Amino acid sequence: MASNDIETPYKAIDLINQLGIVLRTAQIHSINNVAVTSAIDKFVSLINDLVRSEHNVSLELRGEYFYLNENRIRYALEYLLNFDYLTREFKKTELGTVIVKSRIDAADIKALVAAFVSSSFLESPFDSIQEKMSGIPHIELKRLERVADDDPTDVRKMIKKTYFKAVSYTRGVLKQVSSGEKINLKKAKRIITSLVNHILDQEQILLGVTAIKDYDEYTYHHSTNVSILSVALGQRLGLSRKMLIDLGIVALFHDIGKMDIPGEILNKPAALTDDEWKVMKNHPEWGVKSILKIRNLDELTINAIIVAFEHHMKFNLTGYPMLENPAEMDLFSRIVSITDQYDAMTSVRVYKKSPMSPEKAISIMREDAGTGIDPLIFKFFVNMVGAYPIGTLVMLDTKEIGIVSENNQLLLQRPRVVLITDNSGNQIKGRLVDLTEKNDRDEFMRTITKTMDPRQYNINLAEYFL
Ligand SMILES: [Fe+2]
Ligand SMILES: [Fe+2]
Repeated sequence: MASNDIETPYKAIDLINQLGIVLRTAQIHSINNVAVTSAIDKFVSLINDLVRSEHNVSLELRGEYFYLNENRIRYALEYLLNFDYLTREFKKTELGTVIVKSRIDAADIKALVAAFVSSSFLESPFDSIQEKMSGIPHIELKRLERVADDDPTDVRKMIKKTYFKAVSYTRGVLKQVSSGEKINLKKAKRIITSLVNHILDQEQILLGVTAIKDYDEYTYHHSTNVSILSVALGQRLGLSRKMLIDLGIVALFHDIGKMDIPGEILNKPAALTDDEWKVMKNHPEWGVKSILKIRNLDELTINAIIVAFEHHMKFNLTGYPMLENPAEMDLFSRIVSITDQYDAMTSVRVYKKSPMSPEKAISIMREDAGTGIDPLIFKFFVNMVGAYPIGTLVMLDTKEIGIVSENNQLLLQRPRVVLITDNSGNQIKGRLVDLTEKNDRDEFMRTITKTMDPRQYNINLAEYFL
């Protein structure tokens, strides 16, 4: 069988990668742009090469994998972004299989790309693509077969459940600790493991739920959010699954020392006095004591102690606690200190009734990168939350207002947005739009013109995300 040819797997990976490049460039530029036409030429030569050796070339998306003539294509790390992109585009347009039956030329692929780009935002995209391709019989298209658990609303529901389970566990466990009870980390492990699983395949939805901040239950939501953001960031840094689970657990306990701070200081609706700040700054050391009380010394406990102690020390060690001979901050602490600052800044607090916009928080943190914040980890963090982090309120050039709900890793300026008003300012019920969508003149339908202050609008983010 020709498919066993040793070169075919590599050719298959190149083919997928090149198709990704073709569609991406076509989405940004017009179809006759030289970037698009040269990408198409390269794709045509790759596919004709395969047609010569294999006769029929069938490229199919099944579940999360592409198959070339029934052989599953290895997920190439170096091409991860293009693979992910293509999978998503296929799903969006319900395109399942492309079969090329004989040699093709650039005009055939140009027609396919044009059909693809112009149909991707229609009601039934696949039907439209197929209709536009009906004049080209040597390229056959098949509809994507639905995989059973692919319903996005179900995934959202499941993630919402996991999130609130984590918050309620955190509430229970932090209360237990403050009353000096021993705690059971098995449950923490279970909960964090399911968060880790969700982050590995639905990062964006999970990042979305961290935009939920609760005024009355700040500490529990904050601890849960810091745990989720840390795991997501750790994943991008390439940590192993086991490390991610450990990181998620220790992040959950980073502020455990706050349980010992008197409520009138912790929840004071005004600025703290110098003396009150002194008390507040004890929480890293108190955290260490709490953790020592509740656990035997194993590796996880030691990591939890380190993070509780170091998370306010700052990258350049100018924070607190101030040590005489400080050593460099631990990796977990450097991660948690970034996600901790970000979540705290973007939260509503008793002394700060209006949260800072995610975008503002990032720009303030950026000034600290290299001094108070590890610049490399911060770079990964910015990339993860995007140019317009999830939860940012944005004005579009259409005068519609929306909330960023999902990032586009390839086009950071063009996330997905939930519209909350129409172009005359009337409230509408959360319609999701994709800012890469183009009209038939090949122009983007919507572009962000500015970010807005959420204080002016009474928005319950949970309502839009869940
Ligand atoms: Fe803290
Ligand atoms: Fe914190």
